[in-house]
Parts: sequence; structure tokens; C-alpha cells
Amino acid sequence: MKDDLINLKNQAIAEVSEVKDLAELEQIRIDLFGKSGKFTMASKEIVNIPVDDKKQYGIILNEVKSTLEGLLAEKKNELSNAARVWFDPTMPAKKSTLGKLHMVSIAINEIAEVFEKIGFTRMKYPEVEYDYFAFGALNFPENHPARDDWETFFVDSSVHSKYGPMLLTPHTSSGQIREMLSNKPPIRMINIAKCYRRQSDVSHVPMFHQFEGLVVDKDINITNLKGTLDHFAKTFFGPNRATRLRPYHFQFTEPSFEVDISCNVCNGKGCKLCKEGWLEIGGAGMVHPNVLKNCGVDPKVYSGFAFGWGVERTYMMKSGLSVPDIRLLYSSDLRVLKQL
Ligand code: PHE
Repeated sequence: MKDDLINLKNQAIAEVSEVKDLAELEQIRIDLFGKSGKFTMASKEIVNIPVDDKKQYGIILNEVKSTLEGLLAEKKNELSNAARVWFDPTMPAKKSTLGKLHMVSIAINEIAEVFEKIGFTRMKYPEVEYDYFAFGALNFPENHPARDDWETFFVDSSVHSKYGPMLLTPHTSSGQIREMLSNKPPIRMINIAKCYRRQSDVSHVPMFHQFEGLVVDKDINITNLKGTLDHFAKTFFGPNRATRLRPYHFQFTEPSFEVDISCNVCNGKGCKLCKEGWLEIGGAGMVHPNVLKNCGVDPKVYSGFAFGWGVERTYMMKSGLSVPDIRLLYSSDLRVLKQL
């Protein structure tokens, strides 16, 4: 009788291993455990087993039962999973998501291209810089508020004997000094880089980008500045756009201007967005003679112009994007970035 049970078990194991679908498996289960299934019958046999063997027979019965039940459950699981994983080679493939450049990288490339085409060379300068290059050599007085650490991030407590403490460049104008100290005129450089200021609200981020142009040569005057800015405006924003210079003050340019661009909504006539037809876009001016002198350039022989605008703002003006909070640009939230 024991042997019958063992055979029953081995036979069932063999059958289960051959099973191809759930219906077949269910049939095996019924054949074993149904009302008159083989196992059911074998367990009823216990009444005919001699008393001395009953206990052992019971143990084997239990062992066979749990083995077979386990086996059936395992196979059932396997077949159900297999049923879910199906493969249809005629289905179109899933599209892989291709990443793209961040909006600011696109803007930087486009801005660089406009200036490179008219003979500007794209340069790179330190973003962790000495105070002297960011302020001192740019004609900022010692007590200018921008040099306060509420405005600027100072990063080093050790102070250079000549160049002062170190900081994160608060504007790209430090590149003017680096450029003139390492290259003699004629100079036509464009510097597009990160800037850092202690600011954070819907229209300001602590890290943003500026593009700074510097031209130094003989006989450079305001018309060259105006022509360059107009060329940029027309190439970057469209042929109908123009720029306007408004008197302003910067330490390192004389005269200094704020630059406006004609509004694209009303074409300069005046509308709700711009009020008077112009949108403010950045700073510019003729390089201050003191700045030229600080860099060993003779202001009697050479003159120059410089301009510095925000990359994010300029690009948003072009694309017509209105981002409700500029900090979203750097939040690494794909739901936002995919739309830009
Ligand atoms: N550095 C100035 C700023 O950050 C902009 C500027 C650059 C103005 C060059 C004049 C010339 O606001």
C-alpha cells in the first residue's frame, strides 16, 4: 500500500511536468483530489491498514498530499505568469524617449552662433574669481554695495594680497578684465557663463547666465555698439526688431546704457505687455577709460564697447515662453523641462 502511494506521487510529478496549460493542470488536480480521485481513494484506504502500520501510512499520506499540492500550486503560478507574458512581433515597437538639450543650453548655442558669425570669439574665464576682476579692476569703489556679501557669494576666507577675496562671479564682466589682460586689441570676444547672486524669487535665481560682449580696437564708438546690438536683435528675434539705448549708469562703462528691444506684440507702438513699445533686455556701454588703463590698454589709442545681458530672459523673450516662476528652469522637473 505504501508503494502504491509512492507510485501515485511519482506518476503525478511526471504528469505535472508535462502539463502545457491550466485546463490540463486542473484535470490532473481533479484526477488526484476529486471525489473519486486517486489520492482521495488512497487516503480512504487507511481504514483497511493494519493498526501497526496505520501511523506510518498516515505520515506518508500527508507527505504525498503536501508535495502534490505544492507542485500543483507552483505549476499553476508558472502557467498563469506565462499566459500574461505574450509577444506579438507585429506590434509597433515602444518609442524610446530621446532626451534634449536644456532650454538654456539651446539659448547659449544660438546666441554664440550669432556673434561668432560676425567675428566674435567665444571665450571662457574663471567662474570662481578674485574680487579684483569682478569689481576692483572694473572701477567699482571699495564700498560699492555689490561688493557686500549680501549681494555676492564670497567663497574663501583667505585673501589674495593684490586681488582680494574669492567670489562666485556675480556678472560676466570679470571676463572683460581677464580678456584685456591676456590679449592685446583688436578684441572681439563673447563670454557666456554662469553668474551668481544672492537672490531667489519668481523672477530671479541664485545661479543664472549672462552673455557678455567686448570689442576693443582703434576708433570704436557708440555706433558700432548700436549696430552690433541691432544685428543681434534682428538675427536672434527677427528682422522687424530694433534696439533702443537709454542712458544709465554702470561703474565700468562711460557712457552707459540700458538696452531695450522693440516689443514683438505691438511692434513698438505700445501695448499691455510693454506699456511704451519697448522691453528692457540688458546693459551696455563704452568701456570706461579707467578699466582700459587697469588692463594696460591706452585709452588715448583704443576705445571699446561692452554689453551684458541675461541668457534666460533674452531667450524667454524670443520664444514667447512665460514661465510663472523662473526657478522652475533649474528644478530638474521633467514635467516642466519637456515643455521648454
Ligand atoms: N555687468 C552688468 C550687469 O550685470 C551688465 C553690463 C555688461 C553693463 C557690460 C555694461 C556693460 O548688470
